[in-house]
Order: sequence, then structure tokens, then C-alpha cells
Amino acid sequence: MRAKRRGTIVGASALALALAIFIFTALQMSVLIGEAGAQSSADPQAGVNVGTTDPGAGVIRSAGGSVRPPANAETNAPMEPGVARELDLVDQMDPAKAQTPLVVLGPNSDASIWSAVRHGVQGQVSIPDAKAGQLVQSFGTTWEWLRSEKGPLFVWGGYALGAVLVLLVLFYLLRGRIRIEHGRSGQLIERFKPIERFGHWLLAGSFILLALTGLNLLYGKELLMPLIGKEAFATIALGGKFVHNNVAWPFMLGLVLVFVMWVWHNIPSYIDLIWLAKGGGLFSKGVHPPSRKFNAGQKLIFWSTILLGVSVSASGISLLFPYEIPMFAKTFVILNGLGVDALIGFVLPTDLSMLEEMQYAQVWHTIVALAMIVIIVAHIYIGSLGMEGAFDAMGSGMVDRNWAIEHHGLWVEEVEGRKGGHGRGTAATPAE
Ligand code: HEM
Repeated sequence: MRAKRRGTIVGASALALALAIFIFTALQMSVLIGEAGAQSSADPQAGVNVGTTDPGAGVIRSAGGSVRPPANAETNAPMEPGVARELDLVDQMDPAKAQTPLVVLGPNSDASIWSAVRHGVQGQVSIPDAKAGQLVQSFGTTWEWLRSEKGPLFVWGGYALGAVLVLLVLFYLLRGRIRIEHGRSGQLIERFKPIERFGHWLLAGSFILLALTGLNLLYGKELLMPLIGKEAFATIALGGKFVHNNVAWPFMLGLVLVFVMWVWHNIPSYIDLIWLAKGGGLFSKGVHPPSRKFNAGQKLIFWSTILLGVSVSASGISLLFPYEIPMFAKTFVILNGLGVDALIGFVLPTDLSMLEEMQYAQVWHTIVALAMIVIIVAHIYIGSLGMEGAFDAMGSGMVDRNWAIEHHGLWVEEVEGRKGGHGRGTAATPAE
């Protein structure tokens, strides 16, 4: 009997304890649910309840006692992909903004958080490396592809470089070296002063080094490494990177010098139209369209060098100081404002993370550099092998008078006119 009574007491106590735990839990739940509902009604953005646009929809238990949300609540409303969820998750991650602990999800599941993470939401971290606040950055995959051996930079850059080489070989085979048609006169005219040649060779020398080391970054692993082996390639790549990073500065100095010295001579004029209409006389013998110090072709080279040079320098500086000088989001805002988005059929992204900024800078840097290399290869050809007497202008600074008359007739008139009028200048002197 005693045992039976003891059993009944234990059973009743257990039942009472279970009941107490149940009631306590139920109370806790109702408090939690009540709090979540109150917060949602006060600020629909405060919770992770991101699908809801109606403040009232945050109240899970409605006045009528139903657990269903009000009829007008859009708890699972479709939203612009990623955007609303990302915004609210940012709020959750920002202790100043978050009003509920991150664990309180309301009607949202973990999936909404991970979806936001997957869409590249930028949170906050307490370590100095702020970009660590972004766990997943999808454009990184696109970026990786863009610069891979199957990507357009590698492939189209290769086609462009190959095409310019083929065209130059064809041009040489068909036209041959452009000769001084009247032969050398034996009289020399000073074409470029020492400071001009210094500026040109500073720019040219540094550009050639930058181009070679840059091409190695894009093509070296695929084209050079199989030929020379990993060890040798690693040494070349490391040295190349050092050269590339440091030679950028003399390049920029050369660019400034050349711009200051020659901008005046490169202002477009109506004479350029005649020169262009006659193809500069490059394709037929005996044709010498008028030109002052620089002809239309040279002006195109000059302005391409300056504009592409400035652009490659700006993106290069942004890469030299990673995550310090973001410029693409701001540029895209301006471009969209100018209507470029309508022209190209899509809006340029203006909300870029720090990593994306760097990736855009790298891609743009490569595109501009490749364009510049293609143009400069043609320039180097015409300034050396392609035209008799041209290299002297940048070599000794003195050119033959007949060469000058054939290619820059108006300039010769100006120079000799100056000498005749004022007794000074750089008119012809006999060659030694
Ligand atoms: C071995 C390489 C190069 C050679 C042989 C060369 C040769 C020349 C020559 C002979 C001229 C003067 C043409 C004249 O008398 O009218 C010249 C001008 C010029 N060079 Fe170069 N150059 C080289 C590389 C470069 C590079 C790498 C750049 C730029 C990155 C460059 C930019 C210019 C510019 C802007 C001009 C003035 C405009 C023009 O004449 O086209 N050059 N170059």
C-alpha cells in the first residue's frame, strides 16, 4: 500500500512538474510572440520579417485570436531579388539598427539570411579588414572567368594583337618601306629638341616595359610557363610585377611631359580632313597631303596616347592602392546620368562593394592597356621600319629636309619662314 501511495505521489508530482513546465513554456512563447509582433508593428523593417510591407502584418496573432496574419498582410510577397532581404539583414547586422537579436527570425527561415549572404550582402566586422564583412561575392566568379584563358580579355586581346601584326606584315608586303621619294637632300632640320626626345623616350621606354610585364600577367602562365618551366616563370613573374608597379610612375611623368610639350601642335584643324581623305599618302606613292608639325594620323596617335594613358594610369593607381581609391561606382553614376545606360541597354551598377571596385579596375586596366598596345605597335612600325628617315626625328632629333617637305611641308615653311623673318629658328643645316 505504502509503495502504491508513494507511486501515486511521485506520479502526481511528475505530472505537476510537467504541467508547470508546460505552462511556463507557453507563457514564455506568448511573451516572445507578443514582442516580435509589437516590434514588427512599430517598424516593419526592424525584424528579418522582410517580405512584409504592411506594419500590421508583423502581428502574428490578430485581434480575433486567429493565428493567421491579417488578410492584407503579404508575408510571402515577392520582392525584387535580393534587395529587400539584403537591406534588412544589414539592419540586423548593424547593432545600432537591429532591434531584435539575429536569432529571432519571425516568419523568415534561415534561407532568407543565406540568400542575402549569397547575393553579396555587406555586413560589419570588428576587425580592420572591412571587406571581410562580405562573405560571398558573386562577381568574383565572373571576374575570374573574364581574365581566364577562356575569357574575352585573353581571347579577344590575343585576336587584336594578332590582327595588328598581320595587318602590318600585309602593309609591309604590299607597300614596302615608305621611301624619301626625292632622295636625301643632305640638309638637316631640327625636328625635336633634346627635352622633347627625353619626354618621348621616357614615355616609350616605360610603356614598353609596362606592356611586356603586363602581357606576362595576362598571357605568361598559359604561353610562357609551359616553355620555360614553373621556377623560371615564377622568377620572371615576380620581377615583372616589381617592374610593372614601379615603372608606372616614369610612364605618368612621360605622359605629362609629352602632353605639355605637344598639345598645342595636336589641336585638330581642317587640314587634317584633307590628310585623312588622302589616306595620309600612306597607300600610294607620290601623294603628300599637307601637314604642319604633326599630321592627322599623328594627332590620332597623340590623343589616343593621352586619353588611354590617363585612363590606364587612373585604374592602375586604384590597383596600386587596393580598396583605397574606388572610382567605378562614381563613374557609373555619371555615365548613367549621361544616358549611357539607355545606349547600352542596361543600367551600370552603382552599388559596388570594395572587391567589385577592384575587379572592375583590373578589367578596365587590361582593356585600355590592350587597346593602347595595339595602337602603339602600329606607331612603332611607322616610326622605325615602315618609313625611311622617320626614326632620325626621335634619334638625333634632326631630319632630312626632303623627308620633312614630303611629310610635313607646312611645318618646313613655318620653320624656314621664321628663320628668314627673325634670323633664328631651326632651319636646314648641311649634314656632315
Ligand atoms: C621603339 C619604340 C618607338 C619608336 C621607334 C618611336 C618613334 C617615334 C618617332 C620617330 C616619332 C616622331 C615622328 C615624327 O617625326 O613626326 C614619335 C612620336 C611619338 N611617339 Fe613614338 N616611338 C616609339 C614608342 C612610343 C611609345 C611606346 C609611345 C607611347 C606610349 C610613343 C608615343 C609617341 C607620340 C605620342 C608621338 C607624337 C605623335 C606622333 O608622332 O605620332 N612612342 N615616335
